[in-house]
Amino acid sequence: MPSTDTSILILAAGKGTRMHSALAKVLHRAGGRPLIEHVLRACQPLKPAQILAVVGHQAADVAAVVTAFAGQTVLQQPQRGTGHALQVARRAIRRSAKFAIVLPGDAPLLRTATLAALLDAHRRGDAAATILAAELDDPTDYGRIVRDSEGRVQAIVEEKAATPEQRAIREVNSSIYCFTLEKLWPCLAALRPANVHRELYLTDAISLLRARNERVLAQLAADPREILGCNTRASLALVDRIFRARKAAELMDAGVTIYLPETVLIDPEVTAGEDTIIEPGVQLLGKTRIGARCRIHTGAVLQDMCVEDDAEILPHSVMVSSRLGANTIVGPFARLRPGADIRAGARIGNFVEVKKSVVHEGSKAPHLAYIGDSTIGRDSNIGAGTITCNYDGTSKHPTTIGNRVFIGSNATLVAPVRVGDGAYVAAGSTITDNVPPDALAIARGRQSNKPGWAAARRRALKSANRDKGRAPKSAARPARKKSPKRRSKPKPRLRVKSHRR
Ligand code: UD1
Ligand code: MG
Repeated sequence: MPSTDTSILILAAGKGTRMHSALAKVLHRAGGRPLIEHVLRACQPLKPAQILAVVGHQAADVAAVVTAFAGQTVLQQPQRGTGHALQVARRAIRRSAKFAIVLPGDAPLLRTATLAALLDAHRRGDAAATILAAELDDPTDYGRIVRDSEGRVQAIVEEKAATPEQRAIREVNSSIYCFTLEKLWPCLAALRPANVHRELYLTDAISLLRARNERVLAQLAADPREILGCNTRASLALVDRIFRARKAAELMDAGVTIYLPETVLIDPEVTAGEDTIIEPGVQLLGKTRIGARCRIHTGAVLQDMCVEDDAEILPHSVMVSSRLGANTIVGPFARLRPGADIRAGARIGNFVEVKKSVVHEGSKAPHLAYIGDSTIGRDSNIGAGTITCNYDGTSKHPTTIGNRVFIGSNATLVAPVRVGDGAYVAAGSTITDNVPPDALAIARGRQSNKPGWAAARRRALKSANRDKGRAPKSAARPARKKSPKRRSKPKPRLRVKSHRR
């Protein structure tokens, strides 16, 4: 639906004072994206003559998002109000544009279809301005749409300037409009900063148009939630919640079960296959893709993950930019850092951390291990507490473990090192040399037993206690002052013969 006679103007120069933030308001995130990105995405399918954003606060950062979506920017410095923003934008608006859709960068829930309907109503109504309006249960903070006795739009009155009767109006200005530009320009020039903020309000252009007997229409948004603006952290949270609910509903429609969907956080680009189950409190972020019949247990956080069919992610596992093959089981409390590639049927257990490593089919690291910069072959077992020492203080080095290898518990593998197919590493070993295939490597202090040592110690302790021989103090009697001269009794010495290997 190309709209080549229409420019789209996004107002995004404001600081967002009510956010109390160092970050420009339109860069705050809801539904997994900066607010302005949602707006840009809603505008793009209209294929307008141009998308032009008015930027000011943190102009470079805001402009970076705008240009990533093929938009242009114009700088408003200083920011003297929404009307001033349009005055500044005028020089950058294409001459061929007959209409302008104007919208704020802080209303991210707006849908393309609503914008298209607004433009359509504006054209068909042959209006000078068409306002997208909404009926809100709580209209606080929004400009109210004031109509005359015949129901014609007369003016928009901002909350702070409204009379008590006007404040009771529930029909509000979304700040989303369609203007016929040649009719708007003279009114913009006539704006005056006659308000508490000493700003030029775009909303005042409405009464100016009416004074010139121009047609002004207000069209109600079918879903009033679409126009919600984010001026405060509370409104940001409300908008985020709506985005998350939309996304959860989309996945449920596609055959995903989500328990307590109001507790999960799913970013817009996430996909999941049929019969996957998502438990409460899960976060699926970035470009995470999940296959069919997976189960993501409570508290799991996945960012930019690729998870194949039938995988199970047990509670409270955290994983980033990694791959889980089909039928893998990971967690609880597992951590996959970027570049972990866990192949089909492998198992990564509790408190296991994997980074930039391939764990081939059928291998297991069930408990308490660190696997970094490693390759583990098929059907190998990594014992509890195994550590690949991949970092020497300056560089990272690889560990290569073959197929059907058994690494005993608490082994440390000092990289670079290779353990051949079918080899065993004894528990507690510190491996610094390559282990040939099918060998047993054992690298630890040899055990020596000292017969009777423990019994002798118990006897020594018992006799020492007897010698103390003090009657227990009565609770009622005050503690006697310790004489400074008195020394504590010498401790009984426990003699143990030094052992020989
Ligand atoms: C505005 C409307 C109000 C409407 C509400 C809907 C005005 C005066 N009021 O109020 O009627 O109900 O939106 O959400 O327009 N901006 C600039 N340059 C400036 C000032 C603002 O680009 O000099 C941008 C802001 O970055 C923001 C947008 O314009 O994206 C709206 O400004 P904001 O301060 O949020 O206006 P509201 O008080 O919400
Ligand atoms: Mg606002």
